[in-house]
Amino acid sequence: MFKIGVMASGGGSNFKAIIDRIGEGDLEAQCKFLITNNAGCGAVGHATTYGIPVYHISGKTHPDQAAYEAALLEVLDKYDVDLLILAGYMKVLPVSLLKRMPDRILNIHPSLLPKFGGRGFWGLHVHEAVLAAHEKESGPTVHLVSEEVDAGRILGQRTVPVLDGDTPAELQARVLEQEHDLFWRVIKEYGENLVSSRA
Ligand code: GRF
Repeated sequence: MFKIGVMASGGGSNFKAIIDRIGEGDLEAQCKFLITNNAGCGAVGHATTYGIPVYHISGKTHPDQAAYEAALLEVLDKYDVDLLILAGYMKVLPVSLLKRMPDRILNIHPSLLPKFGGRGFWGLHVHEAVLAAHEKESGPTVHLVSEEVDAGRILGQRTVPVLDGDTPAELQARVLEQEHDLFWRVIKEYGENLVSSRA
């Protein structure tokens, strides 16, 4: 059993997929908190349903950068999680947070990294770029978070076909379906290895 914390900004479908797998017993982990920079996002609704504590920490709640970073670190200190999971977290993490959790922060990105990653590649922009490049395949990547955006060590990928006439939204939906099945499996493998390497 290991402990995770999740950060999310959006609809939270990946967050929900992870906590559903925990609820089903497929992923033997505890989700201790959700940190969001967007108090009205779908992920908050899922956390509330599952009784997971929510922390709204953003430039609005903490306009001072040092106070913002201290608030994030305070949540990490309180729960002492093994892994921090970025499930659609749309802000670049401060270096202080990366240093607190070296090789223990996982992100999911909706392209086959290293293709179509880095600043500017988020949301539908990713899928628009894949279609514009006439790629035959796309798919999600789970990777470790490092200081360079979307460039940390790759832990898992899935491929889906790019179909003739796909719209960005259709491709996004096909990739997202795979995200939901990939992310929890990678979290499980990485988390279990982490715990057993400490034993
Ligand atoms: C996903 O496409 C993920 O790859 C990216 O952000 C999106 C989050 O979607 N990092 P959701 O909020 O989990 O539905």
